[in-house]
Amino acid sequence: MGAVEYRPGLEGVIATETSISYLDVDHEEIVVRGYNLLDLARQRTYVDVVGLLVHGSLPDERGRAELERQLLAAANVPAELWQILRLLPRQMDAMDRLRTAISALGGWDQAANSADPEQDRASGLRVIAQSATIVANLIRVAEGNEPLLPDDRRSYPENFLWMITGREPSAAEVRAFDQTLIAYSEHELPNSTFAARVIASTLADLYGALTGAVASLKGPLHGGANEAVMEMLLEAGDEEGLERLIRAKLARKERIMGFGHRVYMRRMDPRAQLLKETLAQLVTERGDPEGEKLLRMCQRGEDVMRSEKGLFPNLDYYAAPVYWVLGIPIDLYTPIFFAARTAGLVAHVVEQHAHNRLFRPRVLYTGPRGLKP
Ligand code: ACO
Repeated sequence: MGAVEYRPGLEGVIATETSISYLDVDHEEIVVRGYNLLDLARQRTYVDVVGLLVHGSLPDERGRAELERQLLAAANVPAELWQILRLLPRQMDAMDRLRTAISALGGWDQAANSADPEQDRASGLRVIAQSATIVANLIRVAEGNEPLLPDDRRSYPENFLWMITGREPSAAEVRAFDQTLIAYSEHELPNSTFAARVIASTLADLYGALTGAVASLKGPLHGGANEAVMEMLLEAGDEEGLERLIRAKLARKERIMGFGHRVYMRRMDPRAQLLKETLAQLVTERGDPEGEKLLRMCQRGEDVMRSEKGLFPNLDYYAAPVYWVLGIPIDLYTPIFFAARTAGLVAHVVEQHAHNRLFRPRVLYTGPRGLKP
């Protein structure tokens, strides 16, 4: 096969062209359709970013209001979907429930078998809206309770957060939650986006691609890390406890969740810095002693990891305490990641279908040859 270089884990390999996003590590910038993701998070809303990702340009004020109206109008899911979720084993993981729900959702979309980019956009906007409703109700429905259905008098992030917690969020809480959605919305070609594009490259439909992405995102090396971070913070209890726990884990050669990143390597993920600020603002505004303790703990963990391993936090490290302070159940952290990332995933499936080339790499064979059957 000639001298083709083998890179385990496809590290550093360019697998596709894209005009959606790019991690400019040297300039510490996450470029999303020409904008810096952190500028978007600080100055715009998640709904703006949905417009940017799915339609290709940032909406103006009227466009944003219209898109928000469309999303809230599409947020209900078929009643049968709740029945399907009720039939699943009670102990089933929330991400596995979500995977089942996203797969089933295609059954109610006439265009489910399409690989047409325009259809992907239309279906994609519906899934972005519906995934929030599904995610917010995963635990409620698993426990045999009725879902809390969307309230279209609220803004998109307010409705999402309200459906999750069942209580009225403050404006500061809605803003913090919206910033996490933007932080999670798109990030070039992580495992889940690659999985979605690989599936879409067979001209399989959007629902198949998104279902594969949920499966990928569940893993603790990827989206599942935000839940693992919170479990670690709770186990540690306080700053000293976290330092002890991290040192003990490192001595056992265990990985510390929320640290390290394939692309950023030994630099801070810009999204972690953003969500650290979001956490600090939220905690200050609320005068929340538990939140302040979490912030101090995270800083201690960051200091220990920097001096011991030269490793920096990724966004999951700070998303976890933000969600905890917002009163969100831990089992929903990774599902929320998916709901937010649906915007980026839809954009990638549209792009893959519009400029398709089947993904089909080769292997470095290490098995035997010449055996006689
Ligand atoms: N804790 C301890 N050591 C680590 C960590 C960590 N979190 N991350 C990397 N390392 C060490 C490895 O042990 C390895 O050390 P060695 O060279 O002495 O053996 C070195 O850093 C390189 O690690 P790799 O696994 O080769 O790096 P890779 O690019 O494959 O891994 C990954 C990236 C999977 C994210 C890794 O950093 C990790 O496991 N982090 C914890 C899980 C996590 O937070 N995932 C979320 C990522 S962000 C996201 O998906 C949204």
